Amino acid sequence: MNVIHEKISGELTDRDHKRVAAFVEDVAGIQLPGYKRQLVETRLRKRMRVVGLEKISNYVDYVFSEHGEQERSALIDVITTNKTDFFREPAHFDFLISHLERQLRLGAHQNYAVKIWSAACSSGEEPYTIAMLLAELQLGWPEFRFRITATDICSTVLNQAKNAVYRQDRIGPISERLRKKYLLRSKDELKKLFRVDNSIRSNIDFGLFNLISGEYAEQKKYDAIFCRNVMIYFNDQDRAKVIRNLVSCLVPGGLLFLGHSETIGNQREGLRAVSPTVYKRVD
Ligand SMILES: C[S@@+](CC[C@H](N)C(=O)[O-])C[C@H]1O[C@@H](n2cnc3c(N)ncnc32)[C@H](O)[C@@H]1O
Repeated sequence: MNVIHEKISGELTDRDHKRVAAFVEDVAGIQLPGYKRQLVETRLRKRMRVVGLEKISNYVDYVFSEHGEQERSALIDVITTNKTDFFREPAHFDFLISHLERQLRLGAHQNYAVKIWSAACSSGEEPYTIAMLLAELQLGWPEFRFRITATDICSTVLNQAKNAVYRQDRIGPISERLRKKYLLRSKDELKKLFRVDNSIRSNIDFGLFNLISGEYAEQKKYDAIFCRNVMIYFNDQDRAKVIRNLVSCLVPGGLLFLGHSETIGNQREGLRAVSPTVYKRVD
């Protein structure tokens, strides 16, 4: 057994769990109710190893001390759940492409680039999936232009997204045809790593953005926003606020994509459901 692991001890007390949970919900909107105590403890232990503290209570005190500012950011980073995949919930991408094809046939998007926002992009699989599909769409519509903004609160996954390097076991959902076109295999065959080609990467601007406290007014108007599998962690009030803000960042007729287990709740204002968990701005 790892020696350092043995030394890191002390269970997360109810009081410390509540302190951490209140801070995380306040800053990132992520709820950490009592039943997530084990998960919180496991994630805190990762940080304790990095900063070299052995007792959880000492670590929590350090986080909330006047010298803990940097550690508070690192704590948010480590608390986030970043599960994602290429072509996750593929019906959404089919919907987006059919929608854009219909619009292109009607003569739309001739003079400006379509703008898409992947608003909790994790390690990049979602925006790269969209970019590969839109690059394919360009083959039939050479005048079609697009730009993708991809943001997340977690700088660790955002750096991975910018790097665009994925292990072989991550690229399974990408068809052989698209892999050949848009992924480059690392020279060292043993490493089994793939990098998304620059022709795809160059369409995406990555940045940090906190959906709870971010300045939405600075966000441009988007033709589609993907905000999937993040609001499940938020309380009803935050979810409603974020949806209102996202709607304000959509062009009229723009599309909002949520995760398959998410709904807009009572937040129907200005939105019409057009497919399961896909909404259109209608005002
Ligand atoms: C489960 S992943 C979903 C990734 C991708 N959208 C998908 O559906 O595959 C959730 C992401 O939301 C991010 N996140 C959590 N709270 C956030 C917040 N307040 N603002 C922005 N991103 C947040 C996490 O860092 C994480 O990468």
